[in-house]
Amino acid sequence: MELEQLISARRSVRKYENRPVEREKTNACLEAARLAPSACNSQPWHFVVLDDPEIKNAFCKEAFSGVYAMSKWAEKAPVLIAVISDAGNFTSRIGNFFRKTEFYLVDQGISCEHLVLRAQDLGLGSCWIGWLNSDKAAKFLKLPKGKKVEHLISLGYPAESPAPRPRKSFEEIVSYNEYK
Ligand SMILES: Cc1cc2nc3c(=O)[nH]c(=O)nc-3n(C[C@H](O)[C@H](O)[C@H](O)COP(=O)(O)O)c2cc1C
Repeated sequence: MELEQLISARRSVRKYENRPVEREKTNACLEAARLAPSACNSQPWHFVVLDDPEIKNAFCKEAFSGVYAMSKWAEKAPVLIAVISDAGNFTSRIGNFFRKTEFYLVDQGISCEHLVLRAQDLGLGSCWIGWLNSDKAAKFLKLPKGKKVEHLISLGYPAESPAPRPRKSFEEIVSYNEYK
């Protein structure tokens, strides 16, 4: 598919067919994420793929407990990818300090957008999930200190075709040569 088509056709998909995603396809999505640019090329990401139903269900019990229960729909996704951050390399952390910008989060955003667009390209639906209990998720995955599950990405064959969500108009978000 053309990039322009991929971008406009992508939706957050929260209902999936009850069939597994081939590992080759999941890996192709992750390969797209791997190639993303990052501040000082620090590549501050790691992806834990949860596609074993038992392990995934046990993970979901922790990650979507309490106030995070509204993310329980994701239990039915055949694949959940836990996106693990670190704070970037030394040079990018110096950049964070002076710019007061968390570049590693920008970097992760770019890599995950690569991931979801490649998913779209392969006929898969996806959804970003930021609403989870990160502490419980980290404990479940036995993450070392300093690593965090920033968000999850669900993947699967879509069982719904969501309507486009509204966007601000072009004029509202773009101005040339001055801020207005
Ligand atoms: C960083 C981020 C976090 C998100 N977290 C959630 C979430 O926890 N649960 C959810 O259902 N959707 C989540 N979404 C999906 C957004 O709700 C969705 O992208 C937005 O409504 C626009 O819809 P669209 O993706 O179909 O264009 C998240 C999206 C992003 C980019």
